[in-house]
Amino acid sequence: MHVILMVAITVDGKIARSADHYPDWTGKADKRFYVEVTKKAGVMIMGSTTFDIIGRVLPGRKTVVMTRNPARCSDSADLVFTADPPEAILADLSDQGYTQAVVVGGAKINQLFAQKGLLDELILTVSPYAFGSGLSIFSDSVDLKLTLKRFWTLDDNTLCLRYGVVH
Ligand SMILES: NC(=O)c1ccc[n+]([C@@H]2O[C@H](COP(=O)([O-])OP(=O)(O)OC[C@H]3O[C@@H](n4cnc5c(N)ncnc54)[C@H](OP(=O)(O)O)[C@@H]3O)[C@@H](O)[C@H]2O)c1
Repeated sequence: MHVILMVAITVDGKIARSADHYPDWTGKADKRFYVEVTKKAGVMIMGSTTFDIIGRVLPGRKTVVMTRNPARCSDSADLVFTADPPEAILADLSDQGYTQAVVVGGAKINQLFAQKGLLDELILTVSPYAFGSGLSIFSDSVDLKLTLKRFWTLDDNTLCLRYGVVH
C-alpha cells in the first residue's frame, strides 16, 4: 500500500488558522488537483474534525473517517467511520484491493500516520497566504526525512511539491 499525505499549506507552513477553520482559502487549481489525486487512489483517510468541517461526503472515492465516537456510523460503503489504528485501516483497504491511500488531514491524523512511519509520499500545495499562527501539518513532533521528487505550479499562485519519504 502506497500512502500519500496530501495537504494545502500557507507559505508559513500552516494548514488552518484553527481547528474549526473552513478550508476555503485554497484556490480552484488546488481543489482540482486534490480531486484528481484522491480519485486516482480511490480512497482518502481523514479525522472526524476535518470531515465535520467539510460537512459532506466528497463523491467518487471512499472516505474513511477516524473517530473514537462509537455512535458515528454510515450505511454507505463509500463512507466508513472507524476507531481502528492506522495500520489496521491500511491493511483493510489493502484487502479490499486498494493500492494507494491518501491521508488528507487534519494535523492530528497526519501526526498519527507520520509517527508510525506509514507515509511514503508527501504532496504539498503552497497557497499564497501566511497565517502567522495556526495548525501545522503535524500536531506534534515528527521525524521525517524527505527527498524532493518534483515541483511545479498549479496556477500563477500555487506551487506543488512532491516528496518521497526516506524509510
Ligand atoms: N490545509 C489542508 O490541507 C487541511 C486538510 C485537512 C484539514 N485541515 C484543517 O485541519 C483542521 C482540523 O485538524 P485537527 O488536527 O484539529 O483534526 P483532525 O485531524 O481532522 O481530526 C481529529 C479527530 O480525529 C479523531 N481521532 C484522533 N485520533 C484518533 C485515533 N487514534 N483513532 C480514531 N480517531 C481519532 C478525534 O475525533 P473524535 O472525537 O471523533 O474521536 C479527533 O478529535 C481544520 O481546520 C481543517 O480545516 C486542513
